Amino acid sequence: MDTKQTRKDIGFPNKKEWREEPAHFTKDNLFIAGHHVMDRWETDYMKRLSHIATQNGGHVLELGFGMGISADLIQKNTDVKTHTIIECHPEVAQKCKNKYGKEIKDGKIILIEEFWENIVDNLEEEFYDGILFDTYPLTEEQVHKNHFWFFKDAYRLLKKGGVLTYYSDEEQNYSEEHLKKLHEAGFNHIGQHICKIYPPENMYWNEKTMIAPEIIK
Ligand SMILES: C[S@@+](CC[C@H](N)C(=O)[O-])C[C@H]1O[C@@H](n2cnc3c(N)ncnc32)[C@H](O)[C@@H]1O
Repeated sequence: MDTKQTRKDIGFPNKKEWREEPAHFTKDNLFIAGHHVMDRWETDYMKRLSHIATQNGGHVLELGFGMGISADLIQKNTDVKTHTIIECHPEVAQKCKNKYGKEIKDGKIILIEEFWENIVDNLEEEFYDGILFDTYPLTEEQVHKNHFWFFKDAYRLLKKGGVLTYYSDEEQNYSEEHLKKLHEAGFNHIGQHICKIYPPENMYWNEKTMIAPEIIK
C-alpha cells in the first residue's frame, strides 16, 4: 500500500477541520477524518518507545495521545514524576480526561489540549528527562516525517542526558535526510533499536521492522 498516495486520496484536513471531525474509536483502532491514526498492532512498538522515554524517570513529555497506549505504559513507570501530554483533538483529549481524571487533578498528568506547534514555546527549557513524540502528519509534506519539524524543540526542551524517542517511520536505518535533521537540531548521540513488528496486511506500515530511536542530548 502506498501510504502517501492513500492519504492524498483521502485528503488532508486543515487544523481547524481536524479538531472538528469526530474521533472514531474502536477497541482496536482510531480513525479521524477518514485517516487511520492509530492501531492496536502498534502496542509492542509503543512498549519499546515508552520504555526508552521513561528510562530516566522524572519529567516526561508526550505528544499525541491517540488511543492512550503509550500513555498507559508511561503511567506504569513509578519513577515518572510528571507526564505532560499534548493532544490537539478535543474528543481524544476527553478520552485522556476520562481515564486519568485523578492523575490530572493531582498534577501528575498535565494535559495540554492544543497543537504542539502552538504551545511549544511556552514549555520549560531543559526540563524534560524523556520525550515520546507520536503525532500524526496533517499535510502531504509531513507524511512519514512529521517528527522532523519537532527535533529543534526537542533539543531545547530536554535536559542534558535526556532522551528523545518517536514513531520513526524507518524500517532498518535512518535515512540521510533524517540524520541530517537530527544533527542540525544538535543531536549527536543517535541510537536505534530495530523492533520486530506484526502489522496486519494492507496497513499504513507494511514492513516487519521499525526503528525505535534512542537519541540522547
Ligand atoms: C498516532 S496517535 C498517537 C498514538 C499514541 N502514541 C498511542 O499509543 O495511542 C496521534 C495523535 O496525535 C494527535 N495530533 C496530531 N497532530 C498533532 C499536533 N500537531 N499536536 C498535538 N497532537 C497532534 C492526533 O489527534 C492523534 O490523537
